[in-house]
Amino acid sequence: MSGTYILALDQGTTSSRAILFDGEARPIASGQRTFEQHFPVPGQVEHDPEAIWDSQLEAAREAIAVSGVEAKHIAAIGITNQRETTLVWERASGRPIGPAIVWQDRRTAPLCEELKKRGLEDYIRQTTGLVVDAYFSATKIAWMLDHIPGARQRAEAGELLAGTVDTWLIWKLTGGKSHVTDVTNASRTMLFDIGRLDWDQRLLQELNIPVSMLPQVLMSGADFGVTLPQWFGGAEIPIASVLGDQQAALFGHACVEAGHAKNTYGTGCFILLNTGSERVESTHGLLSTIAWGWRDELHYALEGSVFVAGAAVEWLRDGLNLIEDPAESEALAAGVPDSGGVVIVPAFTGLGAPYWDMYARGAIFGLTRGTRPGHIARATLESLALQTRDVTQAMEKDSGIPLRELRVDGGAVRNNILMQYQADVLGLEVVRTEQSETTALGAAMLAGLQCGIWDRSQFRSFNPPGAHFRPKMDAKKRESIYRRWQNAIERTRGWEE
Ligand code: G3P
Repeated sequence: MSGTYILALDQGTTSSRAILFDGEARPIASGQRTFEQHFPVPGQVEHDPEAIWDSQLEAAREAIAVSGVEAKHIAAIGITNQRETTLVWERASGRPIGPAIVWQDRRTAPLCEELKKRGLEDYIRQTTGLVVDAYFSATKIAWMLDHIPGARQRAEAGELLAGTVDTWLIWKLTGGKSHVTDVTNASRTMLFDIGRLDWDQRLLQELNIPVSMLPQVLMSGADFGVTLPQWFGGAEIPIASVLGDQQAALFGHACVEAGHAKNTYGTGCFILLNTGSERVESTHGLLSTIAWGWRDELHYALEGSVFVAGAAVEWLRDGLNLIEDPAESEALAAGVPDSGGVVIVPAFTGLGAPYWDMYARGAIFGLTRGTRPGHIARATLESLALQTRDVTQAMEKDSGIPLRELRVDGGAVRNNILMQYQADVLGLEVVRTEQSETTALGAAMLAGLQCGIWDRSQFRSFNPPGAHFRPKMDAKKRESIYRRWQNAIERTRGWEE
């Protein structure tokens, strides 16, 4: 082992970040680069694959430079990434054959409808743990093969490679030596059998995707290859872990046992519950996915994705001009004791888990002459917490595992009013941990475990609780608030149909 530092690369939807952790898992330096989002037509979202790579490399170099640490003292790299986003490139030259199709992109919705018509819904749920949706990678690869001239033929001749963002970064970092991914990213492709841990032949055939395009799937802590000396001042750094970003956040909260759950409040909310070595099949609108794999251990998770969370607070700023900065929402909400009976359902793009209703639209209920901006701000914040309860309730029903606490991260967790309300409507303790960079920390922790500098008994101490929010609301009030919320949700459903 050449050093005790771990470099985490966190390739997200809107920016590439890198954080260098020391031997006690403390973040000592970071770098960040944003890159352009492309929206060619409504519903389509693309990234330039070279911009993803350049921004990630620059962010990594910046973190190393700021730290003053020599790259040769970095023991390993851990990678965590926006999931599902799909790339196809030439095996020989490394040239992408088109833009990356981002997870939010809806262009393959018609192909998903066709898969449903072919009766594949149950098979896909049983095999991959997923619902049939344009969110996942499978139909994005198929789209590129169908729409980029010559692509299918070249794929069949073995000239093209496909991958999610982790695979692309590793391919670049290793100079094309490794074409690999990990089980968590593979579990988001809608092509991966999460029981057998292999690509599913039937789904590959249904979508006409040659298996030769797909990366080898490794455990999340594994030997993914070594960086070329030219990237980091001559150092050849092993890549020791790879996790999709939501799974990395679960790991970074040390939610490594069954029953542990976390919520990341970003643009949307991603709530994951570790269900242990047993896969739980959802009957309440959640996804089954792989939480992490290391050596012969594999943990599954139930996941609920809420499409609009922080985006609702941005709407207060951009849509209503009520605030100038999302952080102001707390002060505005603090000016009123409660939402004054206002309920806001921010179903701007339909509803995700557990409803999966693409025809629902947002609504404001309970307006009176007394309604003030503070009530609107408060009801908006409350909608994040209430949508979270929709998911955690479904999780408890699916898994039979009562949640013990909810660990939280992401921008909105600095908002104390929201966190207290979250604890109140869940009737559950909400724990905000000390480290806010939970995603990067999770990738670093697994890399450190893999390369032998840490053992898992240290994990909880790496990210201790920073604040506890305990429920204060009485149960009767909690349930009446939640009943009113469910009533509001019902009224928004099918609005656009
Ligand atoms: O499933 C999509 C998710 O991985 C994106 O996360 O943090 O890049 O928006 P983020």
